[in-house]
Amino acid sequence: MKLTDRSDYKKTWEDLAKDFESAQHFVAGHNDDSEFKRSAEVTLKVLMETVGVTKGDTFLEIGCGIGRVGRALSPKVKHWMGADISSGMLSQAEIYLRDLDNCSLHNLKSSSLTQFETESVDVIYCTVVFMHLLEWDRYRYIEEAMRVLKPGGRIYFDNVDITTNHGWQVFTDGCNFSPDERPAHLSMVSSAEELLTYGIRAGYEDAKIHKWGAAWVALVGTKL
Ligand SMILES: C[S@@+](CC[C@H](N)C(=O)[O-])C[C@H]1O[C@@H](n2cnc3c(N)ncnc32)[C@H](O)[C@@H]1O
Repeated sequence: MKLTDRSDYKKTWEDLAKDFESAQHFVAGHNDDSEFKRSAEVTLKVLMETVGVTKGDTFLEIGCGIGRVGRALSPKVKHWMGADISSGMLSQAEIYLRDLDNCSLHNLKSSSLTQFETESVDVIYCTVVFMHLLEWDRYRYIEEAMRVLKPGGRIYFDNVDITTNHGWQVFTDGCNFSPDERPAHLSMVSSAEELLTYGIRAGYEDAKIHKWGAAWVALVGTKL
């Protein structure tokens, strides 16, 4: 596998989102609808505890998949925008969110927020996506979020934490692949230091780390 294979996120994730079953499986790792909804409530609670969720907020999710979180979050905010590199994921999201009238879906042309207006969003978050991205692309989203956020806007970016037992398992599972057999979407973990460095370097002066559950590490910050 060449590094370019992992960078071709669009191709990888179009192939994984051919229908609802496949898209849901690669978003959540299963096809259990009640667990899918329950996990969205967990993410919503984490967002409430970290960036806060208020009725006047416009939220942007990077890598929204089929709208797992958007479905739980959108009734609590003014507007929810879901952005994804995979048009297949967005087609499924359109169906999954069809009865909600304050959601919009955005097809990302590349791993970038260039298509979003400057100072237009209150909260930008990204969950269960960084494990599929190369480090440079993780950082680019955090850096670009600074432009797209309104002054006072908040960020939340998470990944699996290598220092936890689950994170170590994810890391060693990757060791079992020979270099030429690694799937392009193979999960790659983060550390608190990595995410905090991105936050500080991107200019979030109050950047901090929030660890939650048994395995998650998240960067939280404000555009001061
Ligand atoms: C495991 S799913 C998580 C979806 C959603 N965040 C959730 O938690 O339900 C990963 C998502 O990231 C998207 N993705 C992969 N690479 C991306 C990139 N470079 N930029 C934006 N989205 C990307 C995939 O298409 C997929 O929808």
